[in-house]
Amino acid sequence: MPGIALLQWYGQNARPLPWRKDGDPYRVWVSEVMLQQTRVEAVLPRYEAFLRALPSVEALAEAPEETLNKLWEGLGYYSRAANLQRAARQIVELGRFPDTVEGLRRLRGFGPYTAGAVASIAFQRRAAAVDGNVLRIHARMRLDDSPLPSPLAAKAAEAWVLRTMPASCKPGDFNQALMDLGALVCTPLSPRCSRCPWTPWCLAFEQALQDAYPKRLPKPIRQEESFPVFLLFQAGRVLVRKRPPSGMLAGLWEFPHHVDLQAAGDPLCAHRHVFTHRVWNMQLVLALPPREPLEGVFVDAEGLRALPMASAFAPFRERALHLMKES
Ligand code: ADE
Repeated sequence: MPGIALLQWYGQNARPLPWRKDGDPYRVWVSEVMLQQTRVEAVLPRYEAFLRALPSVEALAEAPEETLNKLWEGLGYYSRAANLQRAARQIVELGRFPDTVEGLRRLRGFGPYTAGAVASIAFQRRAAAVDGNVLRIHARMRLDDSPLPSPLAAKAAEAWVLRTMPASCKPGDFNQALMDLGALVCTPLSPRCSRCPWTPWCLAFEQALQDAYPKRLPKPIRQEESFPVFLLFQAGRVLVRKRPPSGMLAGLWEFPHHVDLQAAGDPLCAHRHVFTHRVWNMQLVLALPPREPLEGVFVDAEGLRALPMASAFAPFRERALHLMKES
């Protein structure tokens, strides 16, 4: 039975991750949202700090925007943090944490993955939680030809997970066992099949087709942009501005760019930042004093460190702090 074999493997190989300790719905939920698009290693320090600062749904619901964005700094995809807070407010209004997939799906930001993960891990519901790991394992086990990502492949994987999940197990353990199998064994490149509990049932292993699955859609072409980013100093402070409340990197702070400023000399350094659909090639330059006042505020080193800043500008912040220390 593949389900039992996987659970036995998980018993010996589960990663000791902090959100696995007590199954508290709030803690599980925060971990699942952080782990979408962000690697476990990057999440670990952020997760602890987030829960220390905002230990409950109520605390999250009431957190000021700047606090929330600062706690999310470096994790990227900031709309996740805003949705987390909107859902926390919904939960506070409801007066309880919904404990079914259907109830969870009504909350802001709860797609099929998050609802399945929280329902199974925190509430022991028999639900699938199909992430990239599960899609890859399913494609190899079944030689599923649908190119990823695709809703059809996700549906097929979900049905397969529910068929494979043993009736007697904790669904959350089974789902997390799949995630660990994907992270530790059935990896995208060079899967470690000699350590896999599922080789007796794996069609890709049987036919030596591990490297040919999953099939993938061609990567989207990213739009490349190139622009200068300005450091404008005034009396030991530097100019920063807040991005608009909606759109890309909403509400985060940045150094001015795409503004009418003149460079005082050659670029100090450059940084290339890759987003999902675009790439920013930025050159950091010192700005000459402008003729007209600019939008934004001047902050000192302490203020600059405290503001939630988009990761794209993080290397420039370090440079600015260094220059402020020197002057
Ligand atoms: N990735 C997403 N959710 C996870 C979890 N609960 N454990 C390990 N990796 C994950």
